[in-house]
Amino acid sequence: MSRRVIGIVMNGVTGRMGYRQHLVRSILAIRDQGGLPLGDGETLWPEPILVGRNAAKLEDLAARHGLTHWTTSLDEALAHPLAEIYFDAQVTPAREAALRTAIAAGKHIYTEKPTAESLEAALDLARLARDAGVCNGAVQDKLFLPGLRKLKRLVDGGFFGRILSVRGEFGYWVFEGDWQQAQRPSWNYRAEDGGGMVLDMFPHWRYVLDGIIAPVRSVYAHTATHVPERTDEHGQVYRATADDAAYGVFELEGGITAQINSSWAVRVDRDELVEFQVDGTEGSAVAGLRECRFQHRAATPKPVWNPDLPVTEPFRAQWQRVPDNEEFDNGFKAQWELFLRHVTTGSAYHWDLLEGAKGVQLAELGLRSAREGRRMDVPELSL
Ligand SMILES: NC(=O)c1ccc[n+]([C@@H]2O[C@H](COP(=O)([O-])OP(=O)(O)OC[C@H]3O[C@@H](n4cnc5c(N)ncnc54)[C@H](O)[C@@H]3O)[C@@H](O)[C@H]2O)c1
Repeated sequence: MSRRVIGIVMNGVTGRMGYRQHLVRSILAIRDQGGLPLGDGETLWPEPILVGRNAAKLEDLAARHGLTHWTTSLDEALAHPLAEIYFDAQVTPAREAALRTAIAAGKHIYTEKPTAESLEAALDLARLARDAGVCNGAVQDKLFLPGLRKLKRLVDGGFFGRILSVRGEFGYWVFEGDWQQAQRPSWNYRAEDGGGMVLDMFPHWRYVLDGIIAPVRSVYAHTATHVPERTDEHGQVYRATADDAAYGVFELEGGITAQINSSWAVRVDRDELVEFQVDGTEGSAVAGLRECRFQHRAATPKPVWNPDLPVTEPFRAQWQRVPDNEEFDNGFKAQWELFLRHVTTGSAYHWDLLEGAKGVQLAELGLRSAREGRRMDVPELSL
């Protein structure tokens, strides 16, 4: 048994995603399981090198998890002798410059979405990484969640026949911050700080639709700022300058229509915080983060519209659960493991910075569609 240590510069680990999903639930979880087996008796041992703006927070975080490497200097972190990968979970506007620095330092790149604030910048980063010959990846966690993996299983098995439409419902009430503290950071509601529903969620919808249903060919979006004033982490009232809801219609290859509502000003009357219903000629399914239910055409009831009568069918009870049939790990960790194998063994990896740029493209076109009130074609991207 040999052990290979790989240093990962992790930026933004004091934040929600960087700490919980990437550091604790992915990298430290890989260490807790004894490392990542690479085959031929070799095990990969990820060594986080924490970088951030606040020394006290980093020191505390490192001590809490028995980590030894941390610094407030990105250059110093990248120059660490163990550093091979740079990971970014900072606020979105801080990402581009840090990725450029890391690529220039010859590091492999793994980053949260959106990979940049504009398509031009996202494509430029993808080109720079390609030209530098470094491995690169963008987080597309939803693809690795149990509910969507089971949905993909149904698609791959031909369950739906011809897919007709997708309707997605995402969102929950994010408190305004006055009488109850908001459960998301305030920058998400300020356009000037990289906030907004479209920039946040359209990158997700792009890879979910492209990767599970069919490539996105056009977008029409209507956006709103339903809650115009919020209270921040310091109790200060601020103006919400970003969209907090987006109502999108996407045309997919093959004439499939997808419609996804995304809102932080909606109360949940669903089983999960996001759900996608897919209807096909042979059957339908509803997938959330964890569960996926289906109804075959042979089990489809025949409701008759009659408002004079009470509902005749227990509609929601008529669906069956797709069994797990396998063990699902944390989605972020599953994708990290694939990326780490890609970097160390050269195994195939699809979710790169070009794929990340497609998410930024859909967000940019979605915002333009909302501004101009028209449907936008989504052209193919290449480097
Ligand atoms: N994949 C997902 O499901 C998912 C979910 C939420 C957020 N995200 C992405 O992750 C990134 C971080 O989001 P989050 O919710 O963890 O945010 P957060 O506010 O909790 O954390 C932001 C991190 O960036 C750091 N930072 C660097 N420069 C900063 C600056 N100028 N101002 C404020 N903070 C700064 C903070 O110290 C902190 O470590 C965003 O790009 C967001 O789009 C992804």
